[in-house]
Amino acid sequence: MADKYILGIESSCDDTSVALVSSGFHVLSVKTVSQTSVHRLFGGVIPEIASRNHLAWVIPAIDAALKESGKTRDDISAIAVTNYPGLIGSLLVGVCAAKGLAAGWKKPIIAVNHLNAHIASAFLEREKRPEFPYLSLVVSGGHTSLIEISEDERTVLGETMDDAAGEAYDKIAKMADLGYPGGPIIDKIAAKGDASKYKLPYLLKNNKYADDIVFSFSGIKSAVKRFLDDGNVDMPSLMASFQNRIVELIERKVKLALSRKKYTAFVVAGGVSANSAVRKMAENIAAKYNIELYLPELKYCQDNGAMVAAAAMDDFFNGRFSSLDFDVAPTVRPKNHS
Ligand code: KG4
Ligand code: ZN
Repeated sequence: MADKYILGIESSCDDTSVALVSSGFHVLSVKTVSQTSVHRLFGGVIPEIASRNHLAWVIPAIDAALKESGKTRDDISAIAVTNYPGLIGSLLVGVCAAKGLAAGWKKPIIAVNHLNAHIASAFLEREKRPEFPYLSLVVSGGHTSLIEISEDERTVLGETMDDAAGEAYDKIAKMADLGYPGGPIIDKIAAKGDASKYKLPYLLKNNKYADDIVFSFSGIKSAVKRFLDDGNVDMPSLMASFQNRIVELIERKVKLALSRKKYTAFVVAGGVSANSAVRKMAENIAAKYNIELYLPELKYCQDNGAMVAAAAMDDFFNGRFSSLDFDVAPTVRPKNHS
């Protein structure tokens, strides 16, 4: 069968990204306009600024992605767009652009969940996909979730009770004045430190959540803050201890899930899957449990349009399209409101 091509649009946070992906999960083009240099000035993403920048860049990004792919609009089989979860104003821009294209170009449209998109990022440029059921870990700035994927069901096994892993990195970097976004900066600094120098709490070990698949990073964050407040810290070693604790905690919960059920594969995705210690942990786990590992290439760990197109592939081939009036995020309407 001839290849089909899906145009993926991502605008859930601060990256405007558009890509064209083939049904073989090959990325023909990806154009991402990053707003990091703007939001860095504020130490975090400012939603209003993010949506205004999406508005400025979404159409140029669509044009550029299409041009670079060497394809034309006639070659596109469907438009895929992230509609949830994310910043509402940011999502609206990508969704409106996608709906406009779908209507104007007369193409089917597929609304994509951002977490599913991250999971699908691990399948880009890979020859095969995992068999069901598989276990996926999404670790990003907004999520820390263990999700079981079976043929017709997607079950969230556990999530964070407080910060997401990436959020903890970003907040610690802000407290320590290391810059933004914190994840890659801390990852780099930690490589030069001694992780055994600072003892950070392992809060979930002996408490009531020891046997539950839940994550919590606020205790670790507070402990790091105390060391920072005391002053005179060996920053590389403190960051190495912090990274170690975060990854240990994630590893423990992944092992819990793997000990409860047999999975064919382990998929790790999301911005924090670019982390060196997280990738090492994932490799060790795959070897120990003898399961296949799916890790996105580094360039597909952060938000991007290619993962959105990839996540829409199954829906496309099963004819599961969205109607043009789908919501941006599940809208909660007051009772008695029609
Ligand atoms: O997936 P993503 O681009 O956006 C969300 O959906 O949240 O993830 C962004 C997050 C940020 O919190 C950033 O600090 C983190 O991913 N991140 C990292 C690394 N690279 C990015 N965290 C730890 N280590 C890294 N190398
Ligand atoms: Zn994301």
